[in-house]
Amino acid sequence: MDKLLIQRSGPLNGCVRVSGAKNATLPILAGCLLVPDSVRIANVPHLNDVTTTVSLLGRMGAKITIDEHMVVEIDTRNLTSLVAPYELVKTMRASVLVFGPLLARFGCAEVSLPGGCAIGARPLNIHIEGMRALGADVQVEDGYIKASAPNGLVGADITMSTVTVTGTENIMMAAALAKGTTRLFNSACEPEVEDLANFLNQCGAKISGAGTSTITIEGVDVDDLHGTSYSAIPDRIEAGTYLVAGAITRGKVTVRDANPPSMLNILDKLREAGAEISIEGDSITLDMKGKRPKAVDIVTAPYPDFPTDMQAQFMALNTVAEGKGTIVETVFENRFMHANEMMRMGADIKLEANTAVSKGKELLKGAPVMATDLRASASLVLAALVAEGETMVDRIYHIDRGYECIEEKLRQLGASIQRVSG
Ligand code: EPU
Repeated sequence: MDKLLIQRSGPLNGCVRVSGAKNATLPILAGCLLVPDSVRIANVPHLNDVTTTVSLLGRMGAKITIDEHMVVEIDTRNLTSLVAPYELVKTMRASVLVFGPLLARFGCAEVSLPGGCAIGARPLNIHIEGMRALGADVQVEDGYIKASAPNGLVGADITMSTVTVTGTENIMMAAALAKGTTRLFNSACEPEVEDLANFLNQCGAKISGAGTSTITIEGVDVDDLHGTSYSAIPDRIEAGTYLVAGAITRGKVTVRDANPPSMLNILDKLREAGAEISIEGDSITLDMKGKRPKAVDIVTAPYPDFPTDMQAQFMALNTVAEGKGTIVETVFENRFMHANEMMRMGADIKLEANTAVSKGKELLKGAPVMATDLRASASLVLAALVAEGETMVDRIYHIDRGYECIEEKLRQLGASIQRVSG
């Protein structure tokens, strides 16, 4: 199993390119299942989660080609299976995104339940209730969600009880081919939901309001959908992670090909931490002017509030910042596993229910640590940059699910980091 070996580094200095957004690309790839034609998707990040999605679509009989620039071409005209099997869903929950498209286009879908998850229970009740509201018969048996709608789905008004990103995406995709109009209330407003809607509209769907809490979908006929070329938006979480790498090491880091308007909350917190932030087109530069960061208070919540996917990285920042910072996690009930690993590196963190209070130290101490989920592993890499001596981060397969070439990009900024096999 690969590990990352990291020495105290910094101040980081330089520029990295932001990759395409994982959480936009995965639903867009699933959305290709709605379109009986060939679709080209560009700015696809080279990540394990993308490979898993491509394997899943391939297993269903989609014809897929990927060129050297990670432009993915998908043709789902001749599918042979409408099943998402356990072995793929258990490695990546986002596989559940094929549920809505399969059901809408073929009137039938079988998707494995994903099982446990390191960051919370993450049930799929809202996905299931949404498909039922559109007229599908949905049963959960043998560990699978089995759904059918032999006469097609029918539009409805649906109010989701919790804001859910993939739930909104799944129901929106299903409604794209339902008869009549669907209104989705309490929708997730994340930029990735909007990107999926933009992609589907470019294929001929009729979706309005994506990016707000009410999405209206006028169902179209499957033959109204056609192929297109589309480019995924930049990854705001990857961009934010490299900016925190700059802040934590008191450096100066530019991320280019980013989407600054989607990162306002993250950038505000970095300013509060003492960073000078300048934006020029799609480039963002963070400059700490050599200063130690100040601790920040954070409450995570759905977009446009502070993203849960940046919580762990800011916790790393708080461990070496001046003062005391409080982080409240409201989206997932068990997303503090990185805190215990940071404590093994000498961090002063008190955990109580969904609140973590850190008192910043000048430096952490290197130690062997273990990644427990994707963003937790990124936060441990950040912590390692400001830890005396050497830190070995184990189980980095988590990081490869969501960060393209992280060690190369960090090395480009001057970090001392290498991948160790075995
Ligand atoms: N929830 C329910 N019932 C449902 C669905 C969700 O109770 O049917 C609850 C969840 O348990 C959670 C809350 O709703 O407490 C929000 O979860 P959400 O459904 O929004 O999460 P998700 O769609 O499974 C996506 C991202 C996550 C990101 C969250 C929150 C993708 C592929 N994944 O997950 O990304 O943390 O939204 O923003 O888009 C990551 O990239 O590291 C990652 C975990």
